[in-house]
Amino acid sequence: MSFSEQVVRWQRVHGRHDLPWQGTRDPYKVWLSEIMLQQTQVSAVRDYYQRFLQRFPDVASLADAELDEILALWSGLGYYSRARNLHRCAQEVRDRFDGNFPQTATLLQTLPGIGRSTASAISSFCFGERAAILDGNVKRVLSRALGFSADLSTASNERALWRLAEELLPGDRLEENMPRYTQGLMDLGATVCVARNPVCNACPISVSCVGRREGTPHAYPVKTRKLKRSAESLWFLWAQNADSEIWLERRPTPGVWAGLFCFPVFPCQDTLGAAVPARYQSGLQSMPVSVHPLTHKDLHLHPFKVTLPAAALIRGGGGAWFSSEQWPKLGLPAPVRKLLLASHPV
Ligand code: ADE
Repeated sequence: MSFSEQVVRWQRVHGRHDLPWQGTRDPYKVWLSEIMLQQTQVSAVRDYYQRFLQRFPDVASLADAELDEILALWSGLGYYSRARNLHRCAQEVRDRFDGNFPQTATLLQTLPGIGRSTASAISSFCFGERAAILDGNVKRVLSRALGFSADLSTASNERALWRLAEELLPGDRLEENMPRYTQGLMDLGATVCVARNPVCNACPISVSCVGRREGTPHAYPVKTRKLKRSAESLWFLWAQNADSEIWLERRPTPGVWAGLFCFPVFPCQDTLGAAVPARYQSGLQSMPVSVHPLTHKDLHLHPFKVTLPAAALIRGGGGAWFSSEQWPKLGLPAPVRKLLLASHPV
């Protein structure tokens, strides 16, 4: 039996069948789930996916929405460029493709936020196209299965693995086999061929798996250039006025939390202090520091709370006072929402 036949058979019996985005070939729903699942766990996506579909049941409603409402619904999922691309993508589907998603990976890749692997996932799930996916999990599955030991930090090696991924694709009955094969690879990567302690006994391809035969499945994939993590400290000015409104400003694009509403951000405590009129500085109250991990760095957040009259806070454009009725509806960075909710339970 071929590799793809083994994966397809295994998926039928042992794969996942009850994820909220399964059982549909509607490209809008599949696209939305694939974007949400980029760099994000299934468990974190489930509720967001349902809420999003309830508010935006089709690509037209999303295209016609305000970006702010999309960012607010996305708030907490992270990687906010995905939400901005989601909106732009919906508008391009409306304007370039007459409201219908294109049906090939090649065309899907021309849309904002859709890379090669995501394009293939959508076209194989929805249209049975013979197109290969190669996200982080699938790189691990295939490099172990094939004993592919070339360094994936190098573009030419990555291209070579893409070619191998294409050679392994099912060859017939694509309408049925492609969705199942694509899902099977994802399921293997998520439940069996996991990074630490792979469950080789439960794997349909363990007999032919090179990594397993060598006794070193965890040695794959090979990637020498590791992301170097760094740390950065940010100071938040948590200003509240006499009416208990909070001052929030829109974050610039590009940059961390671009487009979201946030406390005024400063690079150090002195610059934060300088933004507060002298007579209110003694009221500045430091709050507990928290660490917020981003992809490439840890943000150490230092909130300082102060209460002052609305007219005493002089800031440039882009900010406003928001009541406790208003701010929960804004797109807020997760740590900002958390701080506000802790002090104003809603
Ligand atoms: N990760 C990326 N796409 C996925 C999908 N369709 N199901 C489960 N996990 C995924």
